[in-house]
Amino acid sequence: MIDYLNYSAEEKGEYKGVKGLFRLEEFEVEAIDILTHKGDGNPLLNPNRSVTPGVYTRLVFISEDGSFNRVIMSDTPAERKDHTDFFNRAKGRVLVGGLGIGLCIEQLIYKRSKSDRPKQLVIIENNPAIIRLMTPYFIEWTEVLVVQADVFKWSPDSCKPSVKYPFDSIWMDIWDEISDRNEAEMTTLARKYTHWKTREGYFGCWARAECKWMRDIRKAAQEKNGKVVKRLMNNKVGKTMMPSVYSNIVIPL
Ligand SMILES: C[S@@+](CC[C@H](N)C(=O)[O-])C[C@H]1O[C@@H](n2cnc3c(N)ncnc32)[C@H](O)[C@@H]1O
Repeated sequence: MIDYLNYSAEEKGEYKGVKGLFRLEEFEVEAIDILTHKGDGNPLLNPNRSVTPGVYTRLVFISEDGSFNRVIMSDTPAERKDHTDFFNRAKGRVLVGGLGIGLCIEQLIYKRSKSDRPKQLVIIENNPAIIRLMTPYFIEWTEVLVVQADVFKWSPDSCKPSVKYPFDSIWMDIWDEISDRNEAEMTTLARKYTHWKTREGYFGCWARAECKWMRDIRKAAQEKNGKVVKRLMNNKVGKTMMPSVYSNIVIPL
């Protein structure tokens, strides 16, 4: 749980062209909610991403007319697990794409000892409402700089001299769902940011292995390549995916 947040903050803004309200809120997950959940959180459907009962924080968007709502980010165990590789490897000058609820900030600044913190943590976020909502909570951490920009267009040269590069660790977390469509964007970002990273530095994207896996299994299914589908279903990533992912794969007759 992110324990330094005020759980009841709200901000008006726009999400993917729709006007509405961003709300930062605490929510409770009870055991019965988990078992009736149709998605990832249900341990009967997916033991690897299930949510344990407890109190969590989430950032939701609700459209003005109430017809659409979306959880943009939460601090459930699956989200923390998805960030483990990055949290373990982040050091020195760190760049993050996507502010969300600032889970990265909590892990890298708030929970670490001073000597272990990154010396610079730059976060690129394109949504001004999310920046307005979140930045008051970590204003005291001078290592954190939030820049309002699109990760696909931003260049660190536009923030000289406050932003110094090359970065030692870069983490892109701009997606709100795991999908094979994300993989092409991840490749674009990996190419773009390689220029601003140290040679031995780390570049990672949220749930990239899963997105690649989805892309590969869809392709194999479309090509009716049963051998590859079977191999992918049984590999390390395949064993963590929900059975419902398979039903989304359209196999032409
Ligand atoms: C899943 S959340 C990020 C979670 C965050 N890493 C954390 O630790 O809480 C995705 C965020 O990326 C932002 N975003 C989406 N597309 C973006 C883009 N092209 N450039 C910058 N930020 C973007 C969204 O507004 C949202 O705040």
